[in-house]
Amino acid sequence: MKKITGTSLLAMKGASEKIVSLTAYDYSFAAVLDAAGVDVILVGDSLGMVMQGLDSTLPVTMDEMVYHGRCVASACSRSLVLVDMPFMSYQASTEQALVNAGRLMKEGGAEMIKLEGGAAIIDTVRALSDSGIPVCGHLGLTPQSVHKFGGYKVQGREQHAADKMKQDALALQDAGATLLVLEAVPRTLAKAITGALRIPTIGIGAGLDTDGQVLVLQDMIGIYPKPSPKFSRNFMDDAEDIQGAIKSYVEAVRNGSFPATEHSFD
Ligand code: KIV
Repeated sequence: MKKITGTSLLAMKGASEKIVSLTAYDYSFAAVLDAAGVDVILVGDSLGMVMQGLDSTLPVTMDEMVYHGRCVASACSRSLVLVDMPFMSYQASTEQALVNAGRLMKEGGAEMIKLEGGAAIIDTVRALSDSGIPVCGHLGLTPQSVHKFGGYKVQGREQHAADKMKQDALALQDAGATLLVLEAVPRTLAKAITGALRIPTIGIGAGLDTDGQVLVLQDMIGIYPKPSPKFSRNFMDDAEDIQGAIKSYVEAVRNGSFPATEHSFD
């Protein structure tokens, strides 16, 4: 089975084939996702919330990301393993970001790493990419900035914020990013950014027009005990087992039936 790479994702965008992504944090779930044809498995720092029961992603450590990355990577024969850089593992300096991203690749099984932010991290993204580390950007509702935003809120509704997000997206691409996650942004803005970029976008609460979709696994199988975001859907509602739910998510993303209007923002 051919391993998915950044180049495959670029080709999928070129062929207008939707990219399917889900989070996972352990070997067994990652094996189910890999077998179901999920293209990108994101070892998200959302593990702080769905695995550890915390209120935010901020306390998650590098050691925890390395551990969960390694667990997931052992299951992935096809899916690309994308691992989050946790809060304050890359913001303080480019040197620290290089050391920590290197750890995620060498010890944590990452094949691509994800950082949150735009203009402030452009030099770091360039240095990582120039060192041979594939980078995924993350714009919109970047959960590591939850306290700055004053909560988990849709981003980019005002014109100046929308313009800035578009500039940030282009700057991330120019700095060498291979992929971009857009979280909780109005559908029209996500569509405009996706159209302006050569690299693929993956949306979560960003409407139907991004090049792919990602959800947090625990939300889409309905086991997270706290309220799930409006942009998620519980695929267990119409499935007999977890494998069936994941299969129908993969199909729904590929055929464009997820997300529906009710999962998107104006
Ligand atoms: O940490 C995570 O799971 C994420 C997704 C919400 C995109 O960054």
